Amino acid sequence: MNVTFRQLKVFAAVARHLSFTRAAQELHLSQPAVSMQIKQLEDSAGISLFEQIGKKIYLTEAGREMFHYSRSIAQQLVEIEEVLEQLKGVSRGHLTIAVASTANYFATRLLAAFAKAHDGITFSLDVTNRESLLWQLEHNECDLVIMGKPPETMELVTEAFMENPLVVIAPPDHPLAGKKEILMQRLQEETFVVREPGSGTRIAMERFFDEQGFQLKTGMEMTSNEAIKQAVAAGLGLGIVSIHTMALELETQHLVVLAAEKFPILRHWYVVHRQGKRLSPIAEAFRQFVLGQAGEVLTALTRR
Ligand code: PGA
Repeated sequence: MNVTFRQLKVFAAVARHLSFTRAAQELHLSQPAVSMQIKQLEDSAGISLFEQIGKKIYLTEAGREMFHYSRSIAQQLVEIEEVLEQLKGVSRGHLTIAVASTANYFATRLLAAFAKAHDGITFSLDVTNRESLLWQLEHNECDLVIMGKPPETMELVTEAFMENPLVVIAPPDHPLAGKKEILMQRLQEETFVVREPGSGTRIAMERFFDEQGFQLKTGMEMTSNEAIKQAVAAGLGLGIVSIHTMALELETQHLVVLAAEKFPILRHWYVVHRQGKRLSPIAEAFRQFVLGQAGEVLTALTRR
């Protein structure tokens, strides 16, 4: 049966009024237009929906069935409309976020704080390396990305929302622990355990040593901040990590931050999306939340 919503709407009006004339008035159509829609509906159903006795029209049995279903279809259409309206708003919907692995130390807290204010929303969070973030941006795979310095070669909207200081870390019994003003020359003698080449932290530390005109002596390479911290604690070398990865270790004094000259390396966290991307209302609300309140939410949490 090939029925259109328009035919059902016209049919429901005629069935309600049991009059072509009044249905035509209600729908602001001409009477022949109404008759035409009903004829097409009857043709497509293969059965008469109305019968005329004298001057009056009545629903046939098939017409009564059609009336019953047309009302529930109309009701469902109203429901669809409501759901779509809600999706257009920020009370429901799904948010797809991808973050750099270092940003994961605070991203879940941000999402939790945002979710508290937006009850009906659901999230997917992908924690991945910089290369994969750039791929996702390029292929429009996520709503928003949180990362360190974004590349200038891609057409992106990038907005900084929080500082990301990179610090030198050591085990508490390291000879440099507790020393003041440790010079770059002295740091140059140490071996550093480093993140994988795609990591933003790795890129930033290499660039920093380069700009300062010092050699970075690298030892083992690891793909996570947790592995770096374990390796540093085990005495495999010094490390350079974002201060945001260190809350627990500083509290338990498992590791220390060295007072190294020129440190911390000051970077920022950015919320990023492709230029020209139409953000959903929920993604737009999250972007605003990050730009406006991320610093506050995270400072409150780290003070606890
Ligand atoms: P990561 O951090 O890629 O080293 O995890 C992100 C960044 O600092 O750019």
